[in-house]
Amino acid sequence: MYQVLARKYRPQSFGELLGQEHVRATLENAIAQNRIAHGYIFAGQRGTGKTTVARILARCLNCVEGPTPNPCGRCSSCLEIAQGNAPDVIEIDAASNRGINEMRELRENVRYRPSRDRYKIFIIDEAHQITNEAFNALLKTLEEPPEWAVFVLCTTEAHKIPATIASRCQQFAFRSVDFGVLVERMAGICRAEGIEADDEALAVLAQAGEGSVRDSLSALDQAIACCGAKLTGPEVRQLLGMYSLETLEKTAAALEGNSPAAMLEIAAELENSGKNLQYYCRELCRYFRNLLVAKIAGTPTRLIAASAAEQERLAGMAARFREEDLTRWLQISLDLYSQLQYSLQPRLHLELGLLRLLHAGRLRPIEEVLGALSGGGDPPGAAPGRGAGHSAGASTPRMAAPAPAKAAPAQTPAAADGPLKQRLAAALEAMNARLSAHAVEESELRESQNSVEFLAPRSSHLALKAPDVAAALEQVLGRKVKVVVTDNGRPAASGGQMDGAPRQDDAAARALEHPAVRRFQELFPQSQVREVRNLRED
Ligand SMILES: Nc1ncnc2c1ncn2[C@@H]1O[C@H](COP(=O)(O)OP(=O)(O)O)[C@@H](O)[C@H]1O
Ligand SMILES: [Mg+2]
Ligand SMILES: [Zn+2]
Repeated sequence: MYQVLARKYRPQSFGELLGQEHVRATLENAIAQNRIAHGYIFAGQRGTGKTTVARILARCLNCVEGPTPNPCGRCSSCLEIAQGNAPDVIEIDAASNRGINEMRELRENVRYRPSRDRYKIFIIDEAHQITNEAFNALLKTLEEPPEWAVFVLCTTEAHKIPATIASRCQQFAFRSVDFGVLVERMAGICRAEGIEADDEALAVLAQAGEGSVRDSLSALDQAIACCGAKLTGPEVRQLLGMYSLETLEKTAAALEGNSPAAMLEIAAELENSGKNLQYYCRELCRYFRNLLVAKIAGTPTRLIAASAAEQERLAGMAARFREEDLTRWLQISLDLYSQLQYSLQPRLHLELGLLRLLHAGRLRPIEEVLGALSGGGDPPGAAPGRGAGHSAGASTPRMAAPAPAKAAPAQTPAAADGPLKQRLAAALEAMNARLSAHAVEESELRESQNSVEFLAPRSSHLALKAPDVAAALEQVLGRKVKVVVTDNGRPAASGGQMDGAPRQDDAAARALEHPAVRRFQELFPQSQVREVRNLRED
């Protein structure tokens, strides 16, 4: 019968254990000095050696040559513990025995001396699942343990162990195992099993476990079952639903190129080739995470589960992005991942998520923008695909209109002929004022011998852009103009106001003309002035 590799290769002594050096050193010392605690908590990610170490500890304590940090491995205690049938080593799965009755039974059991060996060792797996009442029962035992009792509580969620229990135990944190160490272990086991695996395949298997030895070994089981005695990187990757850097880099390229079309293409390709979109998203999360870590920590780093060559490549890509963007992308891809788990429309969700990544990359840090607003900052690095709106009447040099419109206004094609409105629309467009020809169409131009009145409905976009319009008109006509904002086509302040009283539209125009307001509008091109209030009149 085939024995799964994780079982077959469970370390039987501290020497075979991967990682967890701190746990090992502390326990070895304690055993050598015969200072055995009655309670231990082994906490950490699954598949990192908690149960394994609990059994090694049991061997150390109950070996005929013990207590010793180096159990013989041959005596009946050692052998039985390895097989899981030693009479004085009791393993309890708290996931299925979590109640008060089980704990009462356990309390009974604790009271009796070991049947043969030195210690009676209770290994409680998934200890966080024990109910509160049951914990209370256990607490009584821990408060006055018989000299022979040793409890080892294994858990992936140490914070769920009540403080009353935890304070009576020695705690050990089990860490996820480093990539390099895992690759080596995979290589060793493949050799022992007569499996030929290339470096890439080993790396993929090590990555697949995300630091859990058991998960990596299960992946290896799966690969052998599926691909036989010869494992190659791409095959194993395909089998495990993992994606190569090249594939993930396509997404990064689309982000760098600011290309929605490329994003949609990626989604289409994934779907057409029958790929699991959720797996892809998971890999994308990991990819952004690795880029971020490469950016922050530099490479090579043990924080990234990848070969040195891959890390180089990640670092190269990370250098092209900002940390804030990478952080946002990681957040968005994580959100997308959890959405995809429940989505009935994964393709649509994926597309939306990918496009969101693009939009998020265009956001500028608010500090940067505000810094620029107060005048001190650098010119805001125009985000890709979105030029800062320019206005001709700008008060600072970098807000000047694009050169052609400014240097040679008379030579713009539209300036030569066509009705005034068309020329105005063209001039506005040249200034990048973001006003449609249609908006200009809505307004009214009254040209008389020595003045031009430009009547814009108050509700229109134009009203808010009065200074731009004035500048554009001046450019087109070559003389000063007056821009009037109207109510329903009629000048707002025409009715019943006393001569000399400040007119509302004047106040609005002046406010919009104010350098601070203009600067704000420029920095936030999509912003709108909804209302101008004259505080002196309030
Ligand atoms: N630190 C480790 N060193 C070597 N092998 C390990 C390690 N951690 C886990 N394994 C492998 O994974 C299997 C399951 O480990 P286990 O100790 O039950 O993990 P946990 O109790 O932390 O979930 C073991 O049989 C062994 O093959
Ligand atoms: Mg376990
Ligand atoms: Zn022994």
